Amino acid sequence: MLSKIHDRYPGVSINNTIVEPNPEQLLRYKERVAKTPGLDHITFHWNKKTSTEFEVQVKGEKYDTKYDFIHMIQMLYYVEDIPATLKFFTSLLSAEGKLLIILVAGTSGWSTLWKKYSSRLPLNDRCLYITEMLSSMGAKYQSYDLQTVMDISECFVEGNRNGELLLDFLTEICDFKKNAPADLRDAVMEDLKSSGCSSIRDGKVIVHNNVRVIVVENKEASPQP
Ligand SMILES: C[S@@+](CC[C@H](N)C(=O)[O-])C[C@H]1O[C@@H](n2cnc3c(N)ncnc32)[C@H](O)[C@@H]1O
Repeated sequence: MLSKIHDRYPGVSINNTIVEPNPEQLLRYKERVAKTPGLDHITFHWNKKTSTEFEVQVKGEKYDTKYDFIHMIQMLYYVEDIPATLKFFTSLLSAEGKLLIILVAGTSGWSTLWKKYSSRLPLNDRCLYITEMLSSMGAKYQSYDLQTVMDISECFVEGNRNGELLLDFLTEICDFKKNAPADLRDAVMEDLKSSGCSSIRDGKVIVHNNVRVIVVENKEASPQP
């Protein structure tokens, strides 16, 4: 993303503020930056913080920094108060700034699982209602669905380690096959193969992994000519 921005605006220096609570993720990011040539025009500001901790920090500062681009890619699931987070981060946008949100779409297999099993799995479907939240805030946004798919055939191969890990990822349960009660395990496995979640292509189970891409604008942005 940084390289794309640089290609589009060569010669422009970039202040890149990172908000990430997980030290391992931060370390990986720093290692990647250290290995990537051509990033001299970027100043990195590292914050080992959750978005809420960052909000507290910003509100305690005198400076009113505005941002031209903010992204929240596959992260809003982890935030406690989504409307408050959206409100805060849109308030940080510069006049022409954009906030990019990417999340699992309502048309995905994930959404089918979340809706059906939210009381029995740690999954929840709050993130399927982001556009409704933005509308009730009076935010200006455009939303796009990107169709992507994921091969989960290995989940159905007995004793396949990759398949077991994939299943843990899909259900957000560690060792799902061993730990889940038999009725839940059987029902989830059945649903994963059903048309609400996936399709069979060339003998493979392909889960619908569609994502929703939402671009939020600053409310004060001038109308496009
Ligand atoms: C699924 S990863 C996505 C990472 C990256 N955006 C990407 O697309 O590759 C979610 C990230 O959100 C971070 N995260 C979790 N809770 C958070 C919070 N409350 N505030 C900010 N980031 C959080 C996690 O540590 C993790 O790095």
